[in-house]
Amino acid sequence: MQQTLPPGIERVLITAEELADANRRMAAAIAGDYAGQSIVLVGVLKGAVFVTADLARALAEAPGAPTDVQLDFIAVSSYGNAHRSSGEVRLVQDTTHAIEGKHVVIVEDIIDNGHTLHYLRAMLGNRQPASLRAAVLLDKPYHRAVDVTVDYTGLTCPDEFVVGYGLDYQERYRTLPYLAKLRPDVLPA
Ligand code: IMP
Ligand code: MG
Repeated sequence: MQQTLPPGIERVLITAEELADANRRMAAAIAGDYAGQSIVLVGVLKGAVFVTADLARALAEAPGAPTDVQLDFIAVSSYGNAHRSSGEVRLVQDTTHAIEGKHVVIVEDIIDNGHTLHYLRAMLGNRQPASLRAAVLLDKPYHRAVDVTVDYTGLTCPDEFVVGYGLDYQERYRTLPYLAKLRPDVLPA
């Protein structure tokens, strides 16, 4: 069925069903690694708000799920242009609970140059968690500037600026249920 797309959207790149499947696959992998243990998912606001919620619920349904899954959030911002973050990542809002001694899984929407996850791994790793891993729904491997480990990846993302499912362009389009490509004329040159 032909779908009417909102203004500024060129096409759907990844459907809501494909995103849900990716979350289920990541949840199965995480469940396999933390069976019988307690974990804290630390979602990175605001982009990862939907993936964190959906991954947490998929984890609850995964066979051999962790016994206890807690949620916390952190917010960062980075300078840079409209398309890409810079190396200068800044903490905007910290987690509400200490992560010392806990098994922590950072949950990110997308990794591009890697600066954001690199910053978060270093900062949270300094706090003596029992373990620290990262789950990233969308991997854009084309412009990596720093080497950073991603333990769980949902899908490879085309080399496009994408919006929807938490991802924004100037705070718009976050609530689209699918991942979409913006019309090029919407983005600054
Ligand atoms: P990195 O620091 O370049 O790895 O990028 C990570 C952050 O940049 C993500 O958390 C997003 O906030 C943002 N980002 C990277 N690519 C996109 C995109 O295609 N659309 C929207 N935001 C993006
Ligand atoms: Mg993000």
